[in-house]
Amino acid sequence: MQVPLMDLKAEYAALKPQMTEAIDEALSSMQLVLGPNVQSLEQQWAELVGVEYAIGVGSGTDALIIALKAMGIGAGDEVITVGWTFIATIEAIILVGARPVLVDIEPEHYCLDPELLEQAITPRTRAIIPVHVYGHPADMAAINNVAEKHNLRVIEDCAQAHLATYEGEMVGSLGDCGIFSFYMSKNLSGYGEGGIITASDNKLAEQIRLLRNHGYTSKYEHQIIGYNSRLDEIQAAILNVKLQRLEWGNQRRRELAAIYDEALASLPITTPAIAPQAEHAYHLYTIRTPQRDALAAYLEEHDIGFATHYRSPAHLQPACRPYGLHLAELPVTEQAADEVLQLPIHPYLSEEQIEYVAETVCSFFA
Ligand SMILES: Cc1ncc(COP(=O)(O)O)c(C=O)c1O
Repeated sequence: MQVPLMDLKAEYAALKPQMTEAIDEALSSMQLVLGPNVQSLEQQWAELVGVEYAIGVGSGTDALIIALKAMGIGAGDEVITVGWTFIATIEAIILVGARPVLVDIEPEHYCLDPELLEQAITPRTRAIIPVHVYGHPADMAAINNVAEKHNLRVIEDCAQAHLATYEGEMVGSLGDCGIFSFYMSKNLSGYGEGGIITASDNKLAEQIRLLRNHGYTSKYEHQIIGYNSRLDEIQAAILNVKLQRLEWGNQRRRELAAIYDEALASLPITTPAIAPQAEHAYHLYTIRTPQRDALAAYLEEHDIGFATHYRSPAHLQPACRPYGLHLAELPVTEQAADEVLQLPIHPYLSEEQIEYVAETVCSFFA
């Protein structure tokens, strides 16, 4: 049996009639960017997340850059985040001219360790970007406490955590801004690039809206220097179709996670922990074992897709060396890099497939 890490073809097969119709409608209208599909997506997303505004942009990376810019963060400023993330989180801080200051993660959920925040704050610190990695929310109450005490902005990186909740509230509604990615691997994904920014502050939202479209206010008028980061209508039409299945998909991911949890419980591995105040979106199902590389080879032999995020954490990438980020002391991050592995978890995984994966993992340890 073959089990891919994700199965976009199965999803497409399930949604093909609605998808074809939505794309055809978007094309027939020839309103190709920031039109009715984008507006509808923005409105639904704001309602779902529980914020005043959701603003569609070109990607999750753009969302980070634009959120930082909208807060006026740039040269001379420091932004605290983690090394345990996709490089975009750090890249965005560097691209706006600010300096990333990295703190370690807590070992249970791999999210920013709030205990380490205060010691990372300097007079230049302007913001914190916690990453809800794998779909598990960071400890937002603790992070917001520190942010409030030191008058810092908070941008939640929700790229992997669509509709995950913390204390009953959706991620993306807990900081000043939330950023989401609709890249193809995400729980809600387009057939290209896309992202969205959530916010409840009117002025911040207005600034974000200007920045995403060249500072455009009216025909021939550009108020500020901005970006070309308009979400296109075809992506938005696709996202609107898939949005109808997002909650079902997350629920299915949780059911699959429960099957893994039970089947793998007696093995000498760590399965995902969930904080009592959190609901996991299971973008990825991460297990941990010192035998990670041998297990990976075994899965490969058995035709099972897997990932090892983050085998090479963002701060240790060659791109980050000129900024000295490799010098950050992140022992929990570095140990996790050698031990984590993600098993297939997506709504279209069959019972037979998940049983095969679980049995294969068990047979490796036997
Ligand atoms: C944690 C995190 N932040 C930001 C991004 C960037 O999103 P995009 O690929 O849509 O630019 C990603 C995408 O993989 C991500 O995983």
